Amino acid sequence: MGILEWATSPWGQHVPIHIAWFLIWVAAIAGLVFFVVHVIYLRYFARAEGFAGAVTPELAVHVPERVPRHSLAARMFHWIMAVAMFTLLFTAFLPKVGVRFNWVAYHWIAGTVLTISIVFHVIHAIFWMDFWSIWPDKVDLEDALKRVRRFMGHPAPPPRKFAKYPLENKLYHGAIIATGLSVILTGVFMMFRVRTIFFPRNPYLFGDMTWGLMYVLHGLAGVGLITLVMVHVYFAVRPEKLDITKSMIFGSMKREFYLKHYDQERWAVEASTLSSKSDGKNTQV
Ligand code: HEM
Repeated sequence: MGILEWATSPWGQHVPIHIAWFLIWVAAIAGLVFFVVHVIYLRYFARAEGFAGAVTPELAVHVPERVPRHSLAARMFHWIMAVAMFTLLFTAFLPKVGVRFNWVAYHWIAGTVLTISIVFHVIHAIFWMDFWSIWPDKVDLEDALKRVRRFMGHPAPPPRKFAKYPLENKLYHGAIIATGLSVILTGVFMMFRVRTIFFPRNPYLFGDMTWGLMYVLHGLAGVGLITLVMVHVYFAVRPEKLDITKSMIFGSMKREFYLKHYDQERWAVEASTLSSKSDGKNTQV
């Protein structure tokens, strides 16, 4: 049983046509295994972490009761993208596991919404947000090494608290970029295979092998997104992360949560509303 399904083209060429659909179950089970392993890790292996750098009263006094985290534009992007993503996952995979309905139109419409929302997000991130806050930096890598050494019982100084996004979130964001761009780029071309309002149908745009590989990449990235979305929702509903999740609804988080979990120098917040992005302060855009 291979991970791809193959067919013979009218010219006798052996071509892949899409992924084997059992991979849907592999991805869903991988998500469930992640939940179980993480719960076991927290229950039996995780240690209370000490952090370098205490909260300085001079800086803490400037932190407002509610710390701004996500602007209205960023929150709207997040929730529009979430609705598009769930619609894409359900319309793509329910028919493959036996729920029959006319899914293609709902799918490409949701795909178009996702594509537009991602284009908006990229422009917003480049010109208005603190673009580098989501990419791993030197401190993240040094602290990751310290955390691994301490976990293994080796001597290492305590890591610093996190910046706005911990390394784990940054790596997750990287995985979403890779899978998201893969489904979007292939999906836009795949719209030439079906009837949409954008351009005339043209199934001859590419040869059978190229189309086949495109469907395979679309499917592989698509099932990857099943696992990634499950992991994302799992963390969003974990009790200790609820303050972060609520900030994606209301835009801000409690002062105590911020002081406990974040490094004031790495994610600086001031009571006096918004500061410029060039100084790395909380811009909340
Ligand atoms: C979460 C993201 C997505 C997932 C999980 C997903 C999954 C899938 C799957 C499994 C198929 C069936 C492919 C096959 O039969 O081999 C499909 C088809 C298709 N997808 Fe997506 N997709 C996603 C995003 C997108 C996006 C962003 C677009 C457009 C920009 C798009 C456009 C299409 C089109 C047009 C088809 C129909 C192709 C056809 O019937 O010939 N998809 N998608």
